[in-house]
Amino acid sequence: MKPKSKILIIAGSDSSGGAGIQADIKTVTSLGSYAMTAITAVTTQNTTGVKSIVAINPKEILNQIVFTSKDIKPDAIKIGMLHSSKVINYVIKALEDIKIKKIILDPVMVAKGGTKLINNKAINLLKSNMIKKVLMITPNIPEAEILTNTKIENAEDMIYAANQLIKYGAKNVLIKGGHLKDKFVQDVFVNKKEIKVFHSKRYKTKNSHGTGCTLSTAITTFLSCGKPIKKSCELGIKYVNLALKSNPNYGKGHGPINHLNSIKINKTFK
Ligand SMILES: Nc1ncnc2c1ncn2[C@@H]1O[C@H](COP(=O)(O)OP(=O)(O)OP(=O)(O)O)[C@@H](O)[C@H]1O
Ligand SMILES: [Mg+2]
Repeated sequence: MKPKSKILIIAGSDSSGGAGIQADIKTVTSLGSYAMTAITAVTTQNTTGVKSIVAINPKEILNQIVFTSKDIKPDAIKIGMLHSSKVINYVIKALEDIKIKKIILDPVMVAKGGTKLINNKAINLLKSNMIKKVLMITPNIPEAEILTNTKIENAEDMIYAANQLIKYGAKNVLIKGGHLKDKFVQDVFVNKKEIKVFHSKRYKTKNSHGTGCTLSTAITTFLSCGKPIKKSCELGIKYVNLALKSNPNYGKGHGPINHLNSIKINKTFK
């Protein structure tokens, strides 16, 4: 088969392969599209935790985005963790240069254990500037709480926070419900015209490393193929749900999900 579309991923590398750039490339590939990357940081981690993070020079991040996109034009862009205000400013500059409309921002700020990954200056810049420049943002519950200064305990609170983000200038918002404890996971989609709550089965598993990266990239991929934004969210959630259900149970800590769950390989090589 030929790739259905082309995606540029701006994110960090996860040496364990479950999240970050590695999860993003696997997602794009298993959904049948072509992945390109601009790496923002290199992390040394495994399923038990992060050992170190080495940041890439912001100018080099801009170069990766512009040089790659001017040759092979992406149909859509997914943005993951941007760790400082300098990086955010360079990414904004690069995006203004290449003029791609379908951009999904996963505003990564808090690690699984609750540690803040980016400083307040960067958070304020995301809130005041970046969220207006993209088509959709996909915060998880702690990130939505930080961005809106609210406390989220249920779907109603998620809808309130999402509407606040629309007031700040976001076009579309998907607040991910993985962090609540209800029997069903609820992901809340809001824009100026509509509100949709997606319900899916919650799995009891420690293997949920990279669900957030994977979801935003799956949505970007469906969007890049021409699906409408709400439909792309529905399909992305389905993809993550099946990947969680069939996780391979690797590693001693929070293991990866199964990005290959959608693939049927018919060809063998001899
Ligand atoms: N235990 C679970 N069972 C089913 N779906 C889940 C579960 N945990 C998360 N999800 C789904 O995974 C997607 C990502 O949500 P989540 O809230 O985990 O994002 P995140 O916190 O950004 O993830 P990450 O920790 O990878 O950054 C959502 O669609 C959510 O509903
Ligand atoms: Mg996340």
